[in-house]
Amino acid sequence: MINLLIMGKPGAGKGTQSTRLLEYYHLTHISTGDIYREEMAKNSAIGKLAKQYIGKGELVPDDVTNDIVKNVLSTKKFPNGFMLDGYPRTAAQAVALDEMLKELGISLTAVINVEVDDKVLLERMAGRRVCPSCNATYHISFHPPVKDNVCDVCGTVLIQREDDLEESVLNRLRIYNEKTKPLLDYYKKKGLLFVVNGERPKDEVFNTILQRIGD
Ligand code: AP5
Ligand code: MG
Repeated sequence: MINLLIMGKPGAGKGTQSTRLLEYYHLTHISTGDIYREEMAKNSAIGKLAKQYIGKGELVPDDVTNDIVKNVLSTKKFPNGFMLDGYPRTAAQAVALDEMLKELGISLTAVINVEVDDKVLLERMAGRRVCPSCNATYHISFHPPVKDNVCDVCGTVLIQREDDLEESVLNRLRIYNEKTKPLLDYYKKKGLLFVVNGERPKDEVFNTILQRIGD
């Protein structure tokens, strides 16, 4: 069983690498960002609440996010392990996750930190387009879909995330530095942290991670 956690600033490539890793290791993807986007699309109570925070680039309150992850971890099957993407991102979430894993009797295999400079991130986010149906991610210059603005995987028309507007991205970066960055030390002290240069091409980033995790 391989249980991975992927961390990094907004736009570092967590989703991009997660998709590849979960295919390779047959892992179950748990992305809190994807869960919130699905709830917002359904206009559910959680979606409505999340929308108030996400549009501005703020974090959804810890108790709401912790409850969601707890529910997923206790109900979803992950026969080969899981890939946590975008969670935890505060100290309170990291502590909550430790408790959840202890209760389930499972441990983390590694924590991957995808490192990218802020300037590169702003460019990535401005050009990012996402599929609202299957969550595939594109970039208008670096990774365009075959047919303009249409998802290669499922044929849905691509959209731009509302939190990818520059003002929101800058706020997400500020919050990352304040709330999420300190967690790197937390996992370093546990001997779980592995840093990869996320400015390298996607395949290279992926291969570096594979070398580290092994088979
Ligand atoms: P979330 O969806 O997790 O957003 P994020 O952390 O800001 O990360 P992104 O999804 O924007 O970026 P990514 O690292 O996945 O990059 P991607 O692979 O797409 O969360 C959204 C919001 O939900 C949060 O702001 C918050 O409000 C809320 N939320 C979520 N989790 C929460 C939690 N735990 N607690 C509280 N609130 C929470 O890549 C980006 C672009 O770069 C793409 O266009 C891609 O094609 C391109 N790219 C990727 N890799 C490369 C490469 N190596 N070279 C060139 N281009 C690349
Ligand atoms: Mg993502």
